[in-house]
Amino acid sequence: MLWILVMAISAEATRKPKVYQVNLSNPPLTRWTHIQAEYASEIKVFAENYAAQVSKDELEGIVVLLENGYLTKEFSEELHGLANTVNITYNQAVFLNFMYEWNAYCTSIVVRLTNGTVIHGRNLDYMSSTFLMDTTVQIQVYKGTKYLYTSVGFAWYLGVGTGIGPGYSVSQNQRSQGGRDETFEALAKGYQGDLWVLRQSFINFQRYDEAMWYLSNIKVAASTYYIVAGLEQGSILVRNRDDIAGSMMLNDENWYLVQTNSDPWLKDPDGRRLTAMKKLDSIGQKNMNVDQLLGVLQTFPVINPTTVFTTIMVPESGYLNTTIYTSD
Ligand SMILES: *[C@@H]1O[C@H](CO)[C@@H](O)[C@H](O)[C@H]1NC(C)=O
Ligand SMILES: *[C@@H]1O[C@H](CO)[C@@H](O)[C@H](O)[C@H]1NC(C)=O
Ligand SMILES: *[C@@H]1O[C@H](CO)[C@@H](O)[C@H](O)[C@H]1NC(C)=O
Ligand SMILES: *[C@@H]1O[C@H](CO)[C@@H](O)[C@H](O)[C@H]1NC(C)=O
Repeated sequence: MLWILVMAISAEATRKPKVYQVNLSNPPLTRWTHIQAEYASEIKVFAENYAAQVSKDELEGIVVLLENGYLTKEFSEELHGLANTVNITYNQAVFLNFMYEWNAYCTSIVVRLTNGTVIHGRNLDYMSSTFLMDTTVQIQVYKGTKYLYTSVGFAWYLGVGTGIGPGYSVSQNQRSQGGRDETFEALAKGYQGDLWVLRQSFINFQRYDEAMWYLSNIKVAASTYYIVAGLEQGSILVRNRDDIAGSMMLNDENWYLVQTNSDPWLKDPDGRRLTAMKKLDSIGQKNMNVDQLLGVLQTFPVINPTTVFTTIMVPESGYLNTTIYTSD
């Protein structure tokens, strides 16, 4: 069975994401729509099915909750833009961008080379991977003439799950801690979505230490892992909704950090962390580079049938390379 899965992965074709620009100086209603229009029919089909999981009343309740919480006027207008462009309802657009129940089993790794340069790699894993593979895009975000960050994400998604700016890169992995009810309570109190928080970080902060402070302290709607790489630094932030549960840092003892979906101080439940660590140890710090890290992330079960894409980032040079595992 496992062997068949491995064969299925290596037989898959890959492609590079299409690159777009977004200018935050443009009106929220239209600033993302040139991207969404190209994927309109796929997004419409998926969004309608996705929203059908909940009743009309439940959906309305969620939208009201979010509008009373962190859904700002600007964010709300961007969602109206998505709804208009792909011909779905505003409520469906909100629900599609509301990721409280996403079961994303991701792996993120940061490594430090002997000369100090830090490389950051991530696999994004998710169940509905075909839709995600088809709509994965790379978006360069500007405000005025200033370049802010590039995100690797989805044509219909307005937050940031994987991104790199001039001073740092961040990836987010899901952390299961407390359920849906606690997330709703947090949202009602105005706590922000975890991936909306990442977008705010890239817009407002250009330096690693500023981002670390913000991502350690801002209240988030769901517990999460933020994996942050700087020019020569790297950390895992283990977040509770209100505070930080713990953190790990690159240092003289640890030239790499591996984060999957369990707390780093607990036993590896599924073999992904240990497989990645064994592979990193066998390569060694002296031989590490962007291609070797890609190889680690493409080792089963670190890569698995739900893997949508692998991204390698180097904040020191601005290197960004994404491999999408296509469904055909
Ligand atoms: C928009 O979606 C509705 C409902 O799915 C459909 O009836 C209508 O034909 C669509 N409009 C366009 C312009 O495609
Ligand atoms: C460190 O080494 C890597 C790989 O040889 C190189 O790409 C990078 O630019 C170097 N970093 C610095 C700060 O010289
Ligand atoms: C973004 O839009 C503003 C206002 O229209 C414009 O001045 C700026 O040059 C644009 N930035 C880019 C990178 O095109
Ligand atoms: C990006 O990664 C691919 C492997 O997926 C590799 O073939 C290619 O050379 C890389 N591009 C750069 C610019 O390093």
